[in-house]
Amino acid sequence: GSAEFPVLPAVDGASSIDISTFTKKTGYTTLDYGFVNTAATKSTITYIDGDAGILRYRGYPIEQLAGSSSYLEVAWLLIYGELPTADQLAEFDERIRRHTLLHEDLKRFFSALPHTAHPMAVISSALSALSTYYENSDDPKDPEQVELTTIRLLAKLPVIAAYAHKKSLGQAFLYPDNSLSFVDNYLKLNFGNLAEPYEIDPVLSGALERLLILHADHEQNASTSTVRLVGSTGANLYASISAGINALSGPLHGGANEAVLDMLGQIRDSGEGVARFVERVKNKEDGVKLMGFGHRVYKNYDPRAKIVKESADSVLEHLGVKDPLLDLAKELEQIALEDDYFKERRLYPNVDFYTGVIYKAMGFPTRMFTVLFAIGRLPGWIAHWREMNLDPQSKIGRPQQLYVGPAEREFPQ
Ligand code: MLT
Repeated sequence: GSAEFPVLPAVDGASSIDISTFTKKTGYTTLDYGFVNTAATKSTITYIDGDAGILRYRGYPIEQLAGSSSYLEVAWLLIYGELPTADQLAEFDERIRRHTLLHEDLKRFFSALPHTAHPMAVISSALSALSTYYENSDDPKDPEQVELTTIRLLAKLPVIAAYAHKKSLGQAFLYPDNSLSFVDNYLKLNFGNLAEPYEIDPVLSGALERLLILHADHEQNASTSTVRLVGSTGANLYASISAGINALSGPLHGGANEAVLDMLGQIRDSGEGVARFVERVKNKEDGVKLMGFGHRVYKNYDPRAKIVKESADSVLEHLGVKDPLLDLAKELEQIALEDDYFKERRLYPNVDFYTGVIYKAMGFPTRMFTVLFAIGRLPGWIAHWREMNLDPQSKIGRPQQLYVGPAEREFPQ
C-alpha cells in the first residue's frame, strides 16, 4: 500500500532515519512496543474477551471453575486440556503428594540468603537450584521426564515458597504433611509451628483455592510469554519457570498486588482522603499512580476482580477482621468508577486490586503476595511450555528489531 512511514528524529548525531528504508529491506515489519498487536502465538488454553470481560480456561468460564473446582482439577484441565475424571484426579493428587519433599541439602540454600530477601527472588533462584538435583530427568524432549518434572514442580514450589516465608520470620521449616490436601498442606507449611497442632480453617482453604484458580492462567501475559520464550530455546521447565517468576515479580505484573496494598497504606497514613488522592492521580502528579486499576486486555471489569472482591468480604467477615484498607479500596473503586476520567479511559479494577487485602487477612506478609500469584500461575506456565514444545512448528523465539541507531560511522583515527 501507500503507507506513510515516519521519519525518526536524528539519534546521537546521525542523520534522521526513514523507516521506509527498513521496510524495503525487510518486508513489512511493524514496530510494536510491548507486542500490543502482534500475534506470534497460537494457543488452545485460555480465551479472553477483554471488551466483554470474559475469561475461560479450555472453554470453561472462570466463574464456574472458581465456584466448584479444586486447584489441582484446574491444573489438570490447563495442562491436559480436559477436566479430569475422579480417578485421574485422585492419581494426580497422590503423585503430587509423593513428591513434596525437598532434598535436605537444598534447605541449606535458604541459610545462605539474608532473611530480608524478597521471597520472589528466593523462589526463582531456589527453582533453578532445584534443577541441579534432577539433571538426569529434565530432558524437555522426553515426554516421561516432562511429566515427572510437571509433578515435581507442582509438589515442590509451594514448599519452597513456604520456606521462603518461614525464613523471613526466622522460624523453623516444617515437613510437608501429605495427609492434607494441596491447599491445606500449603497453609500449614506457612502458618503451622512445631509446638502446636495445626487447625484447618475450611473457609480460608476455600478462599485460597479460589484465588489460586483465578490466577492459574491468563494467556500471553509477560511471565507466560517469558516462559514460552525461554522454553523455545530448548531450556528445561525449571529454567523456563524460574524466568517466568522473575518476570512476574515486577510491579507492573504480579508485583502489583503488593503495590496496591502499599498505595492503600499510604492513602491511610497521609490522611488526605481518597477523593484528593484520585485528583492527584488525574493530575499525573509525580510518583502518584493508581495501582491495581486498568489492564492491557480488559476494557471492562476484570472478571477475576469481581470474584476476588466478593471473597474479600466473606473472608474478612469470617475472620471477624475489620480492615480499613478494604473500606478504602471500595471507596477508591466507587469514586474512580463514577469519574469521567476513568470512564473515558475504561479503567476498572483488575485482579490485583483486592487480592492483597485477603492475603493480609489470612496472615501473609505483603512480600508473599506475589509468591501466591506465582503458585497460582504455575499450571498455566507449565501448560504453555508443554503446548509450545508439542507444536512441531514452534521455533526459537527472536523478536524482530528495527535498528534506529546511527548509520556506519567513520572511526576516529
Ligand atoms: C495476569 O493475570 O497475568 C495479569 O492480569 C497480566 C496480564 O494478563 O497481562
